[in-house]
Amino acid sequence: MTKGKRLSKFELAPYPYDRIKDIIDDASRKFSQLLDLSVGTPCDDPPSMLMKEMSSSGSAVNGYPPSKGTPEYLLSVSKWLNRTCGVDIETNQISACVGTKEFVASLPHYLRLRTPEKNVVAGPKLAYPTYEMGAKLAGCDYVGLAETGIGIDLEYLDEIDNLLCLWVNSPGNPTGHLEDLQRVAKWANLKGVPVISDECYMEYNWIGPPDTILKYGKKNVLALHSLSKRSNAAGIRVGSFCGDPDLVYYLTEIRKHAGAMVAGPLLHAASAALYDDEHVQMQRDRYLERLRIFSDALSNIGLKVSLPDGGFYLWAKIMGAPPGADGSEPLSWAWTSWLANNFGVIVAPGDLYGESGDSFLRIAMVQPTNEIVAVADKISKFVV
Ligand SMILES: Cc1ncc(COP(=O)(O)O)c(C=O)c1O
Repeated sequence: MTKGKRLSKFELAPYPYDRIKDIIDDASRKFSQLLDLSVGTPCDDPPSMLMKEMSSSGSAVNGYPPSKGTPEYLLSVSKWLNRTCGVDIETNQISACVGTKEFVASLPHYLRLRTPEKNVVAGPKLAYPTYEMGAKLAGCDYVGLAETGIGIDLEYLDEIDNLLCLWVNSPGNPTGHLEDLQRVAKWANLKGVPVISDECYMEYNWIGPPDTILKYGKKNVLALHSLSKRSNAAGIRVGSFCGDPDLVYYLTEIRKHAGAMVAGPLLHAASAALYDDEHVQMQRDRYLERLRIFSDALSNIGLKVSLPDGGFYLWAKIMGAPPGADGSEPLSWAWTSWLANNFGVIVAPGDLYGESGDSFLRIAMVQPTNEIVAVADKISKFVV
């Protein structure tokens, strides 16, 4: 029997947003109401047809729903991608997932069962933390790739021969960066390494039309989508993955064994929302307005911030310590505490998304516009 590589012991890390709990507790002693712009949970209502269809779906509750998703749901994803991005994707190349976070966290484990010798997962250096957690849960190492100006540093991967998969995220969380998906699809085709393009913010593109990697090829490529941000429906946990038929087939089958499935009434409600674009346009308008208002206010307190190319986060560059800081804390933590203590606004320290994020704050536009305006007003009037 050949011995496999010994895995290092899994260390249970604190959940990223639990790390700011003390800051929130301190601030809530000073303010009767906090403005929480840390976690990217949408606050706005989901579209009315989603709520209506959920309760009147008629979907069977006694039986198990198909892990792959119902034909109705798969068709709605296919039609949505065609309408929004002009791509043709057959329903047999699409599957449902339970929101997308569980897919992100479990994918390396499932891929590694096929190729146990491959134990490196790559993705952006500044990224949604679950890419790295998924790698750890599979006993893999995570390699964070820098942004080079023409896109993610794909050349760096030439040094790695045991690469399991590559994540890209466009529009990207936390920076709002848009990836050159054509370049990435070409790389996937050439290198034979699965690339998963996380496109959960796809319709929040501020400088161009929505883009998907599927436009540039499907070989070794998956695109990942979610109802959470598109339709303010994080609570119903509905997402989809689609692309390379072999990858979709393998993952669909293994996920069926693992019991991953979305409830029928939720798939039905999600389908209804996927046929509607009006609510997405309304949400785009809300986010853009909030992004503009808050970025203007932050520049008054010396943070350098411009509108993102995509997504609904401000990625504010820290130019120095906040007023009164004693230098004992990393900069992004000092600013997070200072904003919480002075304005009752909770933001996310940039290092939650990777070490190189310490000179940034991530600020999610996920609270009602009037509340954002009220705090922005106080920040704008602050005398530095
Ligand atoms: C980049 C990215 N991918 C995936 C997710 C997971 O979203 P959900 O599981 O709600 O689909 C998030 C959530 O914030 C995200 O920012």
